[in-house]
Amino acid sequence: RTVYVNGEYLPENEAKVSIFDRGFLMADGVYEVTSVLGGKLIDFDGHLKRLERSLNELDMPKPAAFDDLLEIHRKLVAENGITEGMVYLQVTRGAPDDRDFVFPDAETTEPTVVLFTQNKPGLANSPAAKTGIKVISIDDIRWGRRDIKTVQLLYPSMGKMMAKAQGCDDAWMVEDGAVTEGTSNNAYIVKDGVIITRNLSTDILHGITRAAVLRFAREAQMKVEERPFTIEEAKAADEAFVTSASTFVFPVVEVDGAAVGTGSPGPVATRLREIYLEESL
Ligand code: PDD
Repeated sequence: RTVYVNGEYLPENEAKVSIFDRGFLMADGVYEVTSVLGGKLIDFDGHLKRLERSLNELDMPKPAAFDDLLEIHRKLVAENGITEGMVYLQVTRGAPDDRDFVFPDAETTEPTVVLFTQNKPGLANSPAAKTGIKVISIDDIRWGRRDIKTVQLLYPSMGKMMAKAQGCDDAWMVEDGAVTEGTSNNAYIVKDGVIITRNLSTDILHGITRAAVLRFAREAQMKVEERPFTIEEAKAADEAFVTSASTFVFPVVEVDGAAVGTGSPGPVATRLREIYLEESL
């Protein structure tokens, strides 16, 4: 596979970044995942805008390649023959001469920009879309700026492992009694025809898929309520689901061992997935 590193297209085994890179040493980096369907980038503009916002929030310099990112995405998708899959993009504050907590001088240290593709044939027809997924709840002990898409993914990884250890697929994180989001997706319940999902704040990532799905839901005259909800509400809901660039919409059929609704994917989640895929293709 061909990857992109700091202005160069290289075979993946020739791509290198410094051991002093702050992404590696300090998790001082931000990322985006853009899905590809039918060889087409989905919601690229949204991902680029969020990247710009993440960089701004962390006082990270905009890389020189920023304006070329669409072209770089397209070139990698074409070169690697991706019809279904995703493009991963990471920008870090770069590699200063030494390890230091103080941010390096932006004049001398260039951001590191890395992109690679992931081939995922069958992404649009994932079995989990038909069976639904099972989630557990865990405490949300992440830092307070989850609206910035940083590469600090240790706790979300641990959450996935906790879910797997219990025979489940993912974890919903809970803070002050309410669900924030999934380890790598936004969380929703449906009750009496109303779609309920946590309101945007620094508590959650402002999902690009979330924005699209809520827009489609409103256009289809579905009711949407943006507010925090509890695990008890989720267990008593008619339906539940998650959204992200890598899942689109996955129904959630079990929360902490309790079946949600009928225990099968519900009509709202199923319809929203259909609309999302139709609109994206
Ligand atoms: N994750 N919340 C969290 C914590 C996420 O990591 C993600 C995305 C989302 C959904 O955002 P979007 O709809 O823009 O993909 C919500 C990506 C897919 C990942 O880490 O692989």
